[in-house]
Order: sequence, then structure tokens, then C-alpha cells
Amino acid sequence: MKTLVSVAEMQVAAAGVRGAGRSIGLVPTMGALHEGHLSLVRRAQQECDVTVVSVFVNPAQFGPNEDYLNYPRDPEHDRGRLEREGVDFLFAPTVEEMYPPGFQSYVTVEQVAAPLEGEFRPGHFRGVATVVAKLFQAVQPHRAYFGQKDAQQCVVVQRMVRDLHLPVEIVVCPIVRETDGLAMSSRNAYLNAEERRAALVLYRALSGARERLQQGERDSASIAAEMRRLIEQEPSARIDYAAVVDAETLAPVERVTGRVLVALAVWIGRVRLIDNVVVEEHDGRVTSLL
Ligand code: PAF
Repeated sequence: MKTLVSVAEMQVAAAGVRGAGRSIGLVPTMGALHEGHLSLVRRAQQECDVTVVSVFVNPAQFGPNEDYLNYPRDPEHDRGRLEREGVDFLFAPTVEEMYPPGFQSYVTVEQVAAPLEGEFRPGHFRGVATVVAKLFQAVQPHRAYFGQKDAQQCVVVQRMVRDLHLPVEIVVCPIVRETDGLAMSSRNAYLNAEERRAALVLYRALSGARERLQQGERDSASIAAEMRRLIEQEPSARIDYAAVVDAETLAPVERVTGRVLVALAVWIGRVRLIDNVVVEEHDGRVTSLL
């Protein structure tokens, strides 16, 4: 595995790969890699000739009161895991490389970035869209792989790619869960044993919502209220949102028809977790996707 740290050398390497008629798959990450990330890497390897994993903790997507400085970082562990997976390139630029002095150009996606995470983390998606656009410029991927766990991030990036005519296909991969249902996340590392147990309430609430939908419930407010009721039974849990929205526009829906995203953001103690399920209602039947 070759490690590259400058945008210029990454662009030269990408031009070489493209010039040889080979395809590039990019897996953008902030490191602290877990099985969820590795599932994206494996999918990229199946579908592309050359796989690039970027590891960059992007300061622009953290708010002033968020955990940028304490975000889990373990570069040696990450490098070892990627070596073992047979990744071709690790792109690990510094903050100064990505945001040199004088930097002032940002990408802003509007409506789909506004609700849910956008409401509780103002500026977050401006940071995400900007860094993802910059990573695309550096790596020149044919395909880029994102996890469904960050459902709104997937929608925002897809919107940006369409709106700016970026020549890259966005591939959204299923959520990877621990055996007890907790969605894998780098932030799970912050949970102590008691919080780890309490965190299962997210999965229980989403599974309950999916079951009620499969039993015929179509009223979004009732589904959201039931999720809230369940989560509020957990003393260490504090809900940012429990929402049922259109899976493409992220606008609230009154009744469930077509494809909807059931999404949660919940604090467990001092750790903020997100999780979701996508369901599709068609001719009165509900199937769960991803
Ligand atoms: O999902 C993440 O890890 C980050 O938001 C991403 C896409 C790597 C951008 O920094």
C-alpha cells in the first residue's frame, strides 16, 4: 500500500491509474476504522481496479462545541488494517494541505442539508460537502463509497454530485451492525459498558418502528411518538430527533408512502449516536431496505 500525503502526488497517481484505463474506487473516512469502513473497502475492491482510502479528520465539519480535538485517531492501527485488506493507496493529507492559509471556498448544499443533522449541527454539511468535493478532486475516483448509517450525508453528497456534474458514481452501502444490533461507529469507542448497553435503545426503537410499519401503521407522528416513548425509558438517553422523512428530499411525511427514512439522533450520556432504517411502502406492503 502506498501512502500519499499531498494532493498533487495523489492527482499524479490518479492520472497514472486512469491513463492505464483502470478504474478508481474511493472510500473517504476520518479514520478510527472499524468493520463498517472495511465493508466499504471490500465493496470498492470488488467493483474497482484500484482502491484509495482517504483518512482525514476534517475540522470543517465539526462545530465549535464538538469533538474535533478528541475525535478518535489511531493512524498506525488504521494503516495496518488497510495493508491487510490489500488497499492500493492510503491518502492521508494534513489539515494544512487540505486547508492552506487563505482558504475560503466552500460547497453549500441547501434544502437536503437543512433538517435533521443540519438543524442540530449547523455548518456540518458545508464542511462535509467541501471536503468530499476536494477529495474527489484529489483522487479522481470513478466511484465513491459511503455508509448508509450517515443517511443524510449520502443524500447531500448525491445532491452535490448531481448539481455540480461531478463525474463520480456514489455507492451507498448497508449499515454494519454489532451482533446485538448497535450500528458500528467510531464514536462507539467513547461508550462505557453501561452506555454501550443503553445505546441499544436506538436499534430497538428502529426495529419497533419497522415492525409497526409492517403491521400496517402509516401515521408518521404515531411512529415517531412510539420511538420517543421507548427511548425516553432509558435514563441516559436524550433525543435530538426521531423523524420519519421522505428518503430522497428528507422532507417530513405525514403518511408513509413510497420510500421513507426513519432516522434517529440520540445522546447516550456525552456520546451522540445516529442510526436509521429505510423502508419502502408499495401497494400496501412495506419492505425494509439496506
Ligand atoms: O463519514 C465520514 O467519515 C466523513 O463525514 C467523510 C465523508 C469522510 C468526510 O469527512
